[in-house]
Parts: sequence; C-alpha cells; structure tokens
Amino acid sequence: MAITIKSAREIALMRESCKLLADVFQNLEQAIKPGISTMDLNILADKLIRAHGCIPNFLNYHGYPASICASVNDAVVHGIPDKNYILQEGDIISIDAGLIYKGYHSDMARTFGVGTISEEARLLIERTRQSFFDGIKMAKAGNYLYDISNAIDASIKPYGYGIVRDLVGHGIGTELHEDPQIPNFAQKKHGPKLRAGMTLAIEPMINIGRADVEWLDDDWTVVTEDGSLSAHYENTILVTDGEPEILTLY
Ligand code: MF3
Ligand code: CO
Repeated sequence: MAITIKSAREIALMRESCKLLADVFQNLEQAIKPGISTMDLNILADKLIRAHGCIPNFLNYHGYPASICASVNDAVVHGIPDKNYILQEGDIISIDAGLIYKGYHSDMARTFGVGTISEEARLLIERTRQSFFDGIKMAKAGNYLYDISNAIDASIKPYGYGIVRDLVGHGIGTELHEDPQIPNFAQKKHGPKLRAGMTLAIEPMINIGRADVEWLDDDWTVVTEDGSLSAHYENTILVTDGEPEILTLY
C-alpha cells in the first residue's frame, strides 16, 4: 500500500483525534499509583475514550482483548490489563492507547514511574523520550524516512541500551497501522521520501539490556528476553514542509 497523504480536511480530523487521545492520557496519568491494577487503568481509559464519543481502536484489533496495553517493567509492549496485576512502588509502566474519531485513528504511548523509581529506570525513560525527539527532528518533507530511524539509533547508541527491532513505528490515518513501517534502528537504505501530509506514529521501544524480546504464552505480551526494564515513547505526528507537528502532546 502506498503511503497516504492526508488532505487539509483529514489533517483537521487527525488533529482532533490526537488531541482527544492526549486528553485521555493526561487523566490516565493521574491514576497511576501503587495499589491500582492494570485493569483499573484499562477501565478508566475505556471510559475516558468513550466519554469523548470515540472508540478504542486497540479493542478487538487482531483479537486484542482490551482498550489499552499496560506493560510493566520488563514488558515492552502489548501487556494485557489484568485485575490481579497490582502496581507497586518502583515499577515502571508503559501505557499504549489509541482511539478513532470520525474514522481517524490516533496512537500514543508513554512510560510512567509508579511512585519513586530507581535512577536507572528514570534515565531509561528520559533517554527513550529524547530519542523520539531526536528522531522527529528529521521528519521534514524532502528528508527520507530512515533519517528518522538513523537519528533514533544515534540518540540511544551512547548508552548501550538495546533498541527493539521486532516492533516498529508506522503510518496512521483511517487505519491504525498504515504504511510505512518505521524502524527505530539504523538502516542501510534511505527509505521513502517524506512528504507534507504524511501522518506517522513514531515509537522507540528501548531496553536497558539486550534488544531481544520474546512473547509470553498469552500470545500478546512482549517482554525482554534478558528480563531488563523496557521503555516506550510514542506520538502521532504530522509531516509538514517545516517543523513536524506532534499531534498527541499534552
Ligand atoms: N499501539 C500499538 C502500536 O503502536 C498497537 C497495539 S494494537 C493492540 O502500533 F491491539 F495490539 F493493542
Ligand atoms: Co503505534
């Protein structure tokens, strides 16, 4: 499938979709405390999304059973919310969620600390976030897609962290996952040329240890093979002729 270029009308709808999702995250973040279950967070997020008149796009996606992903500590992504999984002081939790507004998808993720977290966890979260910002500096019309990948890789390299390779970012619009795939590690080729009107979900997933991941028996939860902590930072962005617009910031 070709990479879609959104019209002015579509961009307005994407902006609204993303704005509503950022609002959901802002509320969700307040609820993250020791003692809450990951299912409590899922229920809250589902309510917040529907209160905006929107639909959670993860629910039933290829059979995914919840409205958000809640991935704790060594879980990288796609952790299934569970009423028996109670957050504890010092945990880190990656929340990934999206919604559909008038047919247009948004997608974002953040890793949050639960109470006070270790310095190594704090640095992992901060550097993962920074790698996103280093990556999107390259997201300008006329640049190449893999300029973004290369910049994320270069941002993380000095720390020796593992950049997850099995999962990548993606185009987004009337579908949650559109072309192109956006790797977070250095590429040999240029990739497609970026054009104004592309909307992309850029989402580095970074492990303190090695890059390798494995799937749990629930067929969803992706965890680090070495058990090390993992962080995720994702925004839906718009490519323009000038600076990229981050649509899911709050
Ligand atoms: N948010 C994920 C992504 O960034 C998609 C998860 S869909 C689910 O691409 F169904 F697996 F939750
Ligand atoms: Co995504």
